[in-house]
Amino acid sequence: MTDTEKSASPPAQPDSMVASAPTRRAEALLAGAALPPLTAKTTRRGFFPLLGAAWLVFTAGAALIGTTIGRFFFPNVLFEPPSTFKAGFPSEYEVGQVDERFKAKFGVWIVRDEHSIYALNSTCTHLGCPPNWLVAERKFKCPCHGSGFYITGINFEGPAPRPLERYKILVGDDGQLVIDKNQKFQYEKGQWTNPDAFVKV
Ligand code: FES
Repeated sequence: MTDTEKSASPPAQPDSMVASAPTRRAEALLAGAALPPLTAKTTRRGFFPLLGAAWLVFTAGAALIGTTIGRFFFPNVLFEPPSTFKAGFPSEYEVGQVDERFKAKFGVWIVRDEHSIYALNSTCTHLGCPPNWLVAERKFKCPCHGSGFYITGINFEGPAPRPLERYKILVGDDGQLVIDKNQKFQYEKGQWTNPDAFVKV
């Protein structure tokens, strides 16, 4: 090459600034663009980035298919506590006491009065908040809008439009109380006198 030809040539760039053809192909593959044609400049050193990109695409596809199949075999299932449960023996309950053992898991208070045991739904009849049993004041008090209920479940203050509901309660074959949340009894409908709404003691 003559001195004139040397001065006419563009300045050489360092290797690190020049992407090899296979590298450009890998970038194009990841970007979803059309692949440039292979040229004679494709070298063995540049083949590995292309292989890596292809492996990446393959792995992503396999993961997507695996996730889809996994969701088919293991669908989203909501596990809820059973609607019927045992609540111990009647002798475990003291007269005038509200038993809160089953409130957290089943949303039920069990109350014993002079003559019976009944199961109260611990859901406020206003907008569904869970009231609290205030031992000193002997009332259920809803923290959301202030509704109050007597130990019987009858509402007496706040916006709650009706008493708490009661659930079916019976004595099972083994002598334990059984609460069945599938059946409710509402005071305003005269249902609290139903024999399934309480257990005589
Ligand atoms: Fe209980 Fe409103 S939800 S008072």
